[in-house]
Amino acid sequence: MQTLKDNFKRVHDYLRISLTDKCNLNCIYCNPADAKIKKLQRNEILSYDELLRLINIFTGKLGVKKIRFTGGEPLVRKDIIHFFESVSLLKQQYGFEFGLTTNGTLLENKLDNLKRFGLDKLNISLDSLRPERFKYITGKDNLDSVIRSIQKASEIGFEPLKINVVVMRFVNDDEIIDFVDLVKDSKMNVRFIEFMPFGNNRWNRDGFISYKEIKNIVETKYQLTEITSFKNLVAKDFHIDGHTGKVSFISSISNHFCETCNRLRIDARGKMKLCLFSSGEDELSFKELLNNKNYSDDDICGLIENALQLKKKVHPGVDELLKLEENNMLSIGG
Ligand code: GTP
Ligand code: 5AD
Repeated sequence: MQTLKDNFKRVHDYLRISLTDKCNLNCIYCNPADAKIKKLQRNEILSYDELLRLINIFTGKLGVKKIRFTGGEPLVRKDIIHFFESVSLLKQQYGFEFGLTTNGTLLENKLDNLKRFGLDKLNISLDSLRPERFKYITGKDNLDSVIRSIQKASEIGFEPLKINVVVMRFVNDDEIIDFVDLVKDSKMNVRFIEFMPFGNNRWNRDGFISYKEIKNIVETKYQLTEITSFKNLVAKDFHIDGHTGKVSFISSISNHFCETCNRLRIDARGKMKLCLFSSGEDELSFKELLNNKNYSDDDICGLIENALQLKKKVHPGVDELLKLEENNMLSIGG
């Protein structure tokens, strides 16, 4: 089996696939402030057959060991459950880890099937535990559905079950302790994420809180002990005495983790992205390649390997990121 190694000897064995740019929520940190972004048409996104062929290539030929599906909101895509059933068959064949990041609003009635299909890693985004504020952040009044999904996922044994909280000053920074308490007696992992700038997503320095500051807030009540790991982790993980749940911080901005990056992405258009923050000019279009009969799977492997050599050592700093108007979280999927 080949492995996907870049010019800096980083092995890329984690693929994140954005299944759609559509979302049933409209979160303030995700969407551009003014523009109504035109949604992709059905023929512009990768079909399920095209996606399965790519998964086959990445996991069967290129040594990818983990696939995470993101969006937009992946569960809004039509017939998603049948697609995940097909993914589970590939998983049986190649043995990769199967992950999903979702806003949890459409999840509850799909959990039993997802468990049956061998979903290993379920991450749920939730930025407030207060109904009014949830509505302010997401534009929808359905906090209940997310809470029910979290409860059920926990009951039927999804573990790890990660809760992603994007922390924004003056918006939800007074709920940090509430989130720690939410996972206290559970097997869940709450992860506080630094607010990242994306093409005009209302990011500003005043609203940004660094992971150190978030950590200090947790430490006003609890003592944190770092859990060291040798994996390519995005998050810094901590334990609190007497708690079964774990607390983590994702410091993409104040303390990037590019040196251990093992991630490749396919965005909703079917473009391969070498970095969450790359601007896209050097990246492969799988939609075109898969529709061109001249390209065999082996040819596509070669093109992926070549493209990977263009990956930069680190992603740009905040000032550069703010200029990347084209970067759109809904299409890239985090
Ligand atoms: P695990 O498989 O549980 O480790 O999930 P994950 O943390 O890789 O994925 P998730 O979809 O839950 O993303 C959590 C946060 O990490 C999101 O805000 C992502 O945007 C951010 N993130 C994921 N990968 C990268 C990356 O390569 N670079 C940066 N800067 N942030 C990332
Ligand atoms: N900054 C940080 N995290 C973000 N996410 C979406 N937009 C941003 C942003 N601007 C998170 C979502 C989801 C994950 C995939 O990315 O909350 O949990």
